[in-house]
Amino acid sequence: MFYDRERELGKLNEVYSFPGSSFLVIYGRRRVGKTALVREFLKDKSGLYFFVGEKDEKLLLEEWSREIVERLSDYLPSYVKPRFSSLEELVGFLLDFSRERRLVVVFDEFQNFKAVKPSFFSPLQELWDEKKDGSNLMLIAVGSYVGMIKRIFMDRKEPLFGRADEWMKLKPFDFWRAYGFVRSMADVNPRHFVEFYSALGGMPRYLLYLPRYYRGDSVETLGRLFFDEFAPLREEGLNVLKLEFGRFYRSYFSILEAVSLGYVTPKEISDKTGMKPLTVSKYLSELTNHYEYLVREVPVTENPLKTRKVAYKISDEFFSFWFRFIYHNYTALEENPDRVFERFRAEFPAFVGETYERIAREFVKRLDLGFKPERVGRWWHRGEEIDVVAYDRKNVALFEVKWKNLSQRDAKRVLKALEKKAELLPLRGNYRFGVIAGKLEDKDWLRKEGFLAFDLEDIIR
Ligand SMILES: Nc1ncnc2c1ncn2[C@@H]1O[C@H](COP(=O)(O)OP(=O)(O)OP(=O)(O)O)[C@@H](O)[C@H]1O
Ligand SMILES: [Mg+2]
Repeated sequence: MFYDRERELGKLNEVYSFPGSSFLVIYGRRRVGKTALVREFLKDKSGLYFFVGEKDEKLLLEEWSREIVERLSDYLPSYVKPRFSSLEELVGFLLDFSRERRLVVVFDEFQNFKAVKPSFFSPLQELWDEKKDGSNLMLIAVGSYVGMIKRIFMDRKEPLFGRADEWMKLKPFDFWRAYGFVRSMADVNPRHFVEFYSALGGMPRYLLYLPRYYRGDSVETLGRLFFDEFAPLREEGLNVLKLEFGRFYRSYFSILEAVSLGYVTPKEISDKTGMKPLTVSKYLSELTNHYEYLVREVPVTENPLKTRKVAYKISDEFFSFWFRFIYHNYTALEENPDRVFERFRAEFPAFVGETYERIAREFVKRLDLGFKPERVGRWWHRGEEIDVVAYDRKNVALFEVKWKNLSQRDAKRVLKALEKKAELLPLRGNYRFGVIAGKLEDKDWLRKEGFLAFDLEDIIR
């Protein structure tokens, strides 16, 4: 059963409705649901789905000709038997065919053409430039290796440079959609779901394990998914990222590992990895801008272009978890898995706490605060930190986030400390203070006192 992706399907249908030809690139990390999305899109259209396996050109052509005969024979005169001696011929045929009739063509794992026939992109570009204006072809290139796909279409030296009309980065489900997806398959309570989301993120493929692996205990489930000898996700980070980074993957991995362990500034990363500052900054920039596995965070009151207060974090919940608990412990996991698992059990709640802060920030963005914040984010300065700050020119709302359950007394103490920290903020306006906890006792009382008070029940709605 296909779940959601409504905005993505909406965008694809919009492009489909444009007259003439379009070249669309869909990219996103492995397992995120690219193939499922294009297959869903193709369901009610005349379209062709081609998987670019790393095979001989000849074998691909045989396979794809069969598909063409099957799907398009109704529209072809009976004396036409599609046979192609090259990929170029096949693409030419599709462009010509679509002069008469709108056609969608998907090449999945498009970057594999580089292995099948490295010279193909140049004639493809020529054919496209020559024929696209007279045709009605919606050409979709799907790619899993973000770096490679960007190089093919964005590098000036590449033939296909500038040929993509539309780009779509497919992201994992957000927290709420991920919960909806899981709930459509299994009965998982919200607390456990926050824990699963901390490890699996909004990745459909990984969330699909839950109906099979979850028996009521979240940590035990993660043990069987990640730590056991035959755990299906134990090697996943390696499998997915090794090909992306190619020969020098170890350096990229060291940086991602350091960031996952909480070394988040260029200086800290350089000290931790022993790599030179200049090398570190080169890798950080690539991992952020080119590969998009890291994001660069600045305190919410700072100008992102000017400030030097920068912290990096891994943008994907799964990789963050995998580097922190699996890759970091690779050797120990072979030698003494039980010990690794026990350490994981002890450190996991704090890790979930960090995820919960991110969820809370997303929640605050959706909240009606009585004003429309210009920015929502984290703030820090010299060891002091505020989990969520939302502000415009006249208003400031601050939140402390706790994954724990808070009693009324705890909450009051937390709010008092928050009011104290607020004095350090360089923001003027009407201040409000709030707390977001895993579970919050006496929310109503806090709200009557003028505080913003929420817990997981409100987040999940
Ligand atoms: N929107 C969705 N609803 C339901 N299931 C989904 C959805 N998206 C993905 N899935 C399931 O998740 C799994 C991974 O999705 P898919 O194979 O489409 O990912 P991909 O991005 O093509 O990954 P890969 O790089 O491994 O090819 C599949 O089993 C798919 O059925
Ligand atoms: Mg796929």
